[in-house]
Amino acid sequence: MSLRDRTVIVTGGPTREWIDPVRYISNASSGKMGVALADEAASRARAAVFVHGPVEGALLTGKPWRAVAVESTQDMLEALRREIVPGAVLVMAAAPADYRPAERSAVKMKKSGDELVLRLTPTPDILKTLAREREEGTVPPFFAVGFAAETHNIEAYALGKLAEKRLDMICLNDVSAEGAGFGTDTNIITMFCRGGERIALPIMSKRAAAARIFDEVERRLPA
Ligand code: PMT
Repeated sequence: MSLRDRTVIVTGGPTREWIDPVRYISNASSGKMGVALADEAASRARAAVFVHGPVEGALLTGKPWRAVAVESTQDMLEALRREIVPGAVLVMAAAPADYRPAERSAVKMKKSGDELVLRLTPTPDILKTLAREREEGTVPPFFAVGFAAETHNIEAYALGKLAEKRLDMICLNDVSAEGAGFGTDTNIITMFCRGGERIALPIMSKRAAAARIFDEVERRLPA
């Protein structure tokens, strides 16, 4: 089933959870994987939307997709609720922060020289929340592709996420492998599909990997 009549929503980059007006919790996602997927989606789909956390501006200029900028994990969840239309394909290549500070200080916290303990609270799991809302009927039906960024027990964790987040497909990348994961121009991806198929890709550019991912999405999209 071609993507020609579909809206594809890709997420990319990190999210940012503020501690005080000058400090935040985030991660090393550059947004390159998300941009590669959004570029590929725009060449195949009726509409492509890139929902992204803070990434370098140069990645976003002159692109054939609509960009939606967000900051926190909660913001990304809310943006996706607005963007998902019936039959959409959602590809979650973003690395949303899993925790945020339990309290955000309104003023810059002063250095005292003593140990500082930060209390963190979980952010929403975006994919799990949207899967639940899809079941409840408050979010329209969509095809869900997740990513798994792992460093150990990689296949077991990826398969766990495929089931737990009710995904149609998950793209595993071992982020400790050379040429894969955060910040690189290449990636090494293994796709696991809901039906049990496993498709291992060799190292390739993120754009080439994006094309292989959408080839598999198109093979599996329900009419
Ligand atoms: O941006 P780059 O520098 O190009 O790097 C690309 C990448 C390594 C970030 C990308 O390839 C990747 O692996 N993205 C997923 C990162 C991640 O958050 O993985 P995870 O295994 O922690 O999460 C599993 C899935 O749940 C992901 O699809 C993630 O987007 C999603 N998630 C995570 C946290 C959260 N609160 N809600 C979510 O929905």
